[in-house]
Amino acid sequence: MTGTVAAIEASDFVMRNWTAGETGPVRIGSPEHLRMFAQMLLDTHNPYKPAVIDWPKLEPDALARVTSLPIWDIAVQTEGRASIRVKTFAASVEEPLLRQALELDADEEARHKVVLSKLVEAYGVKLAPEPDYPAPKHAVWAWLVTGYSECIDSFFAFGLFETARRSGFFPEELIETFEPVIQEEARHILFFVNWVAWRRRNLPVWRRLTFRLTEIAVWAFLIYERIGIARGLDEAGEMQDANFAMQGSSAIGVDLSPAELIDLCLAENDRRMAGYDKRLLRPTLTPALARFARRFLKP
Ligand SMILES: [Fe+2]
Ligand SMILES: [Fe+2]
Repeated sequence: MTGTVAAIEASDFVMRNWTAGETGPVRIGSPEHLRMFAQMLLDTHNPYKPAVIDWPKLEPDALARVTSLPIWDIAVQTEGRASIRVKTFAASVEEPLLRQALELDADEEARHKVVLSKLVEAYGVKLAPEPDYPAPKHAVWAWLVTGYSECIDSFFAFGLFETARRSGFFPEELIETFEPVIQEEARHILFFVNWVAWRRRNLPVWRRLTFRLTEIAVWAFLIYERIGIARGLDEAGEMQDANFAMQGSSAIGVDLSPAELIDLCLAENDRRMAGYDKRLLRPTLTPALARFARRFLKP
């Protein structure tokens, strides 16, 4: 094995497996808990460089499938917005370790955007002109919107990505090239849900209430946004602004029932979270909603 391959495999293992140095139980909301989830994000950072990614050459049919996927504009723009939102929130945080972890999170979002731009460039996908990414006015709101969006979208992306891998929709090399980005989103949502739990417990009682109300408002906004996206999709007859998660399996040309897709998302969610310290909280809301919806679907 060459040194480079070994180094890549080592980084890959590091980004998926992490246990804190502390032993014994850790109380959620405690300073140890904060140290733990911030350190998890920092220690599992994979230092790959998008500029040196060797994009696999695709056969004409695979190339056509990749370039015709109507997700690239929205994907690039989502990463651009996520980066500035997380960065703005990071700047508002005083606790040094938490701030450092948030800055890393924002940098990884910026790197996702570069990865996507490189992919688009490598395969000759035409992108719509990009909008500006202004800094949000309300840092906490923007952070919560990004965090909970990622909780929803990553959950479905896990299942769709696995579907695309199994079906051969994307060639294996492309799946492998893209895999770290998906695992990074798993780390982000793991970090995010632990931050939410830590934050809730460290607020005075009356502010806990306003925090809860803000979270509910964020969820209402995200549901509204996704219904709007789904409607826009019908009218326009295309997916240009759609959430890939909502329409994904048909877009990747796989005949998967909604129940099967949910089962795959749940299994992949568990698999991607399995390597991290068991004392950290796992994202539970989206999987619970998916499990609930699953009950009404035919197997
Ligand atoms: Fe991202
Ligand atoms: Fe992310």
